Amino acid sequence: MDERAWSAVDSYVTDLLVPQDEALVAALEASREAGLPAIQVSPPQGRLLYLLAKLVGASSILEFGTLGGYSTIWLARAMPDGGGRVITLEADPDHAAVARENLDRAGLAAAVDLRVGPALDLLPDLEAEGAGPFDLTFIDADKVHSPEYFAWALDRSRRGSLIVSDNVVRDGGLLDPDHEDPAVRAQRTLHEMIAAEPRVEATTIQTVGVKGYDGFNVALVG
Ligand code: SAH
Ligand code: DHB
Ligand code: MG
Repeated sequence: MDERAWSAVDSYVTDLLVPQDEALVAALEASREAGLPAIQVSPPQGRLLYLLAKLVGASSILEFGTLGGYSTIWLARAMPDGGGRVITLEADPDHAAVARENLDRAGLAAAVDLRVGPALDLLPDLEAEGAGPFDLTFIDADKVHSPEYFAWALDRSRRGSLIVSDNVVRDGGLLDPDHEDPAVRAQRTLHEMIAAEPRVEATTIQTVGVKGYDGFNVALVG
């Protein structure tokens, strides 16, 4: 089995189980045309975010790392019609501009509150506004600060909230405490923090697919 098979299986699953529509396809197309890195969640992963958000009945969602808004569209669509809000945080104004257009085209402008800046700089405003509690948080920005994002989101969760952290395995880099990339080392910090955290039950699932070998953590707040 090689990466070609992983991608082919992702395509097979996507064709059968992951309904694509104009807005999702257009979002990917516009992101590519604008030169954004193609690091958005895969279609099956986007579908999983959507299913998880539905499972928890999410109407208040927080996302770290918008990129072109592809994952944001999946998350926003899981909420009750007109009755929910995704707050999504993006450091790069160019990415945010593409996301805004993609969200407008998807008819989700009113459901999504897109804020531009490094997430850690945006959190005090959210705090002051009394944002939360969040039913679901998706952590997918710079991976160095994932532990800080997790801690912040956990304090603004309720019993039954989910916190999903993307890219925690990184080609098995999770095993290497001396990994050269601090973003990979931060995933060990995140795991140690979660292990010591009495408020959550969690697991990490390794993934292969069109995005290679990686994984995500799901933490349920109890
Ligand atoms: N969630 C998106 C992919 C996000 S890629 C999807 O699946 O469709 C990671 C994004 O995080 C990039 O757009 C990057 O610009 C942004 N980012 C990087 N550092 C950040 C920071 N400190 N705060 C907020 N966003 C950041
Ligand atoms: C990469 C993948 C991601 O899902 C992400 O959020 C950031 C980077 C990558 O493959 O480089
Ligand atoms: Mg990611």
